[in-house]
Amino acid sequence: MGLEQLSPNDTKGKIITCRAAVAHGAGEALVIEKVKVHPPQKKEVRIKILFTSICHTDLSAWLGENEAQRAYPRILGHEACGIVESVGEGVKDVNEGDYVVPLFNGECGHCKLCKCPHTNMCQHFGVNPMKKDMVADGATRFTTVDGGKPIYHFLNTSTFTEYTVVDSACVVKLSGLIDQHSLKKLTLLSCGVSTGVGAAWNTANVQSDATVAVFGLGAVGLAVAEGARARGASKIIGIDINPDKFIKAREMGVTDFINPKDEDKPVYEIIREMTGGGVDFSFECVGNADVLRNAFSSVHEGWGLTVILGIHTTPQMLPIHPMELFDGRRVIASVFGGFKGRSHLPLFAKQCLQGMVKLDGFITHELPFKEINKAFDLLVSGKSLRCLLHL
Ligand code: APR
Ligand code: ZN
Ligand code: ZN
Repeated sequence: MGLEQLSPNDTKGKIITCRAAVAHGAGEALVIEKVKVHPPQKKEVRIKILFTSICHTDLSAWLGENEAQRAYPRILGHEACGIVESVGEGVKDVNEGDYVVPLFNGECGHCKLCKCPHTNMCQHFGVNPMKKDMVADGATRFTTVDGGKPIYHFLNTSTFTEYTVVDSACVVKLSGLIDQHSLKKLTLLSCGVSTGVGAAWNTANVQSDATVAVFGLGAVGLAVAEGARARGASKIIGIDINPDKFIKAREMGVTDFINPKDEDKPVYEIIREMTGGGVDFSFECVGNADVLRNAFSSVHEGWGLTVILGIHTTPQMLPIHPMELFDGRRVIASVFGGFKGRSHLPLFAKQCLQGMVKLDGFITHELPFKEINKAFDLLVSGKSLRCLLHL
C-alpha cells in the first residue's frame, strides 16, 4: 500500500469537518463524532493524523486522575504521526505533504530554556495537562458542528481526531526514507519510546555493563529497557505486579524479573542482594510513591541514580527524607527522555529505523480508529503495550 497523499488545495484555509473521539466526562466512553477543525493560524500546522496510540497519560487524564480533566468536551491523545495538510503564516521548516510527529513537549527554539543545551524544556510549549487551548490566542481550533462551541485541546497535540492543529513548535518533520511500515512504527516516537529510551540515553547516560532496574513494564518501562540494552547494560531487572508483562519483557531484553506480589520482603532488598549493594540506575515508570521509594532504595549508595518517568498525582510529595540523599543516591525526573523534540528527533528516528532501537515489539495491537474505546480497555486491563489506531 502506498503512502497517503493529500490534495492540500481542497481544504487549505477552510474549516474541515471530520471525525474525532471526544471526551465528555471523566471515565466516560469517548464518543466518535463530527467536529470542526479550523485552519491553522500564524505559526501553526494542521495535520491529518494517520496513526495514533494511547499512552498511560491519556488514560490518567481520561480517568480524571489528575487536574487535567476539568475541561469538556476535550480531544485527548498525544502519540501519533501524520501528514501536514496545511500550514499557517510564517511556518518555514514544515510544508504541506510532510510526514510529521506531533510533540507534546514542544521546542520553540527561541526561549531561554530552548537556547540552553542542558534541558529539553520550553517556556512556551512545555508539558501542561491543564492547558486546553492554543498558545497564540487562547482559543481552540476545534469546535462543535452544532453551535460552534469550543472543544478543548490536550498536551499541545490532541491526536484522537482525523485532523488536528498544533503550533509549529510542537511538530517534527520525519527525515529519511519513510514507507508505510516505518511510518507506523514512528508513531511511538511521539511519546513512549522517546521518553523511555531517552531517559536511559540522555538523562541517565547508561553505559555498557551498567546494572539497571525498571519499575513498571508498560511501553515506557520497556523503552527504558530497550535503551539500556542498546547501550550494553549487563543486567536489566524488570519489576511489575502483572506477571504477564514478563513474557514480552524477556523477548525485549529484560534479564531478571521481580513480582512484588510474590515476595515477602521489599523489592529494594532483593535488588541489593542480586547486585551486590544495588543497581547503578533505577527507573520509576509507574507513577506510584511506594514504587518510587523502592526504586530510590534499590540503587547503589555513593552513585546510584533514580530517574522518575511516571506521572504522580497531587498532592503526592517526594517520599524521600532529605538526609537520605547524603548516602549519595540521586533522583531526577525525565520529560520526553531529555530529547529536544525538533532538534534531536530526526536523528533518533533514523537510529530507530536503522535498528539501533527495536520498535516492533511495542505495537501489540492494531485497531481501526472507531474502536478507540476497545484500545483503552486493552491498556486498562494490562493486555497491550501500544494499540495502534488507524485513521
Ligand atoms: N509495582 C510495579 N509495577 C506496577 C505497579 C506497582 N505497584 N503498578 C502498576 N504497575 C505496572 C503495570 O502492571 C504496567 O505494566 O506498571 C506498568 C505501567 O504500564 P502502562 O500502564 O502501559 O503505562 P505506560 O504508558 O508505560 O506509562 C508508564 O509513565 O509516562 C508515564 O503517565 C505515564 O505514569 C505513566 C508511566
Ligand atoms: Zn505519553
Ligand atoms: Zn522554547
